[in-house]
Amino acid sequence: MSSLLIDRIGLLVTHEEERPEREDAALLVVDGRVAWIGDAGSGPAADERLDADGRCVIPGFVDSHSHLVFGGDRSAEFAARMAGERYAAGGIRSTVAATRAASEEGLRARLAALVAEMHAQGTTTLEIKSGYGLDVETEARLLRLAREVTPETTFLGAHVVPAEYAEDRGAYLDLVAGDMLDACAPHARWVDVFCETGAFTVEESRRVLEAGMARGLEPRIHATQLGPSSEAVALAIEVGAASLDHATFLSDADVAALAASPTVVTLLPGVEFSTRQPYPSGRRLLDAGARVALASDCNPGSSFTSSLPFCIALAVRDMGLTPAEALRAATLGGAEALRRDDVGHLRVGARARLALLDAPSYVHLAYRPGVPLVDRVLSLA
Ligand code: NIG
Ligand code: FE
Repeated sequence: MSSLLIDRIGLLVTHEEERPEREDAALLVVDGRVAWIGDAGSGPAADERLDADGRCVIPGFVDSHSHLVFGGDRSAEFAARMAGERYAAGGIRSTVAATRAASEEGLRARLAALVAEMHAQGTTTLEIKSGYGLDVETEARLLRLAREVTPETTFLGAHVVPAEYAEDRGAYLDLVAGDMLDACAPHARWVDVFCETGAFTVEESRRVLEAGMARGLEPRIHATQLGPSSEAVALAIEVGAASLDHATFLSDADVAALAASPTVVTLLPGVEFSTRQPYPSGRRLLDAGARVALASDCNPGSSFTSSLPFCIALAVRDMGLTPAEALRAATLGGAEALRRDDVGHLRVGARARLALLDAPSYVHLAYRPGVPLVDRVLSLA
């Protein structure tokens, strides 16, 4: 048995039902789990003591949407967008070519560097998708590599139709729903699809999600990023998707339908930032009673940020969330989007995954954008 008492916490966010945050607090960790929460100076004896010296302690971020296994660089595409070009799904194909050409060692090293970047910025649980291989062997390789760093792996063979199948998308769908899923399902928990103009139709998406579900994978969906689609929203709800991600274009009826469903809506403000699309209103979703998560979507095309503090700042500044709501969405919301109840909060029993901020309050995450405020990260279990 090993124990650690974190004492003299200026502001502790636990997300407990009755009392989600408390001032002048202490927290005891035993064998990697939160074992006790109370007032500063009143904690039980422990093997080790960490003096937070008035710092704010928050649950580690749960980044429920990322694409971290890829090769190549698309900074020129970003620069062109900032000069007025529009974002289109087709850019994915250039990363596919670079990813197929990369060595396994090169992909693993890049992945490790991005995971370290995330961890240093407070992320302690993350999801990773495939989707830049788009052939049986490469998709399986990407998922194997992702599994080395997280159990939350997602098969996204239906990201776009790769160039070699441009004239026969039916054959590509047969492959995704057949041999590719057979090779990938053992390495994945989730099945996802990019249901969008330029990627896959609603009917094609249904087929892929159902094929994944038939192999025991749980569904999630990329939709309403590039334009509205009430059909895609209805599909997400119908198949029981854990999360609908992007939600850049939703009608009031879509918002009401999502709010009445268990499907989490995952906002990805890094995408709006780096594609110059309009930010959707997170306020409207919360006011309607929808469950909301906030994630990075870290990928080389539409959002190459690994920083949830940056996403929190955008969600507060441009999506109408309060700092407390944005923090909740980036922790508890992400956990809900991944159907995890052991992370994203610091209630007794939770995994001791947390971040100490070099600030008296988490409000500073939005108030001081771009400043590296994460002082120390613990991921003890
Ligand atoms: O989530 N939307 C689809 N996939 C990624 C972008 C991929 C890319 O442009 O490379 C996303 O934004
Ligand atoms: Fe994505």
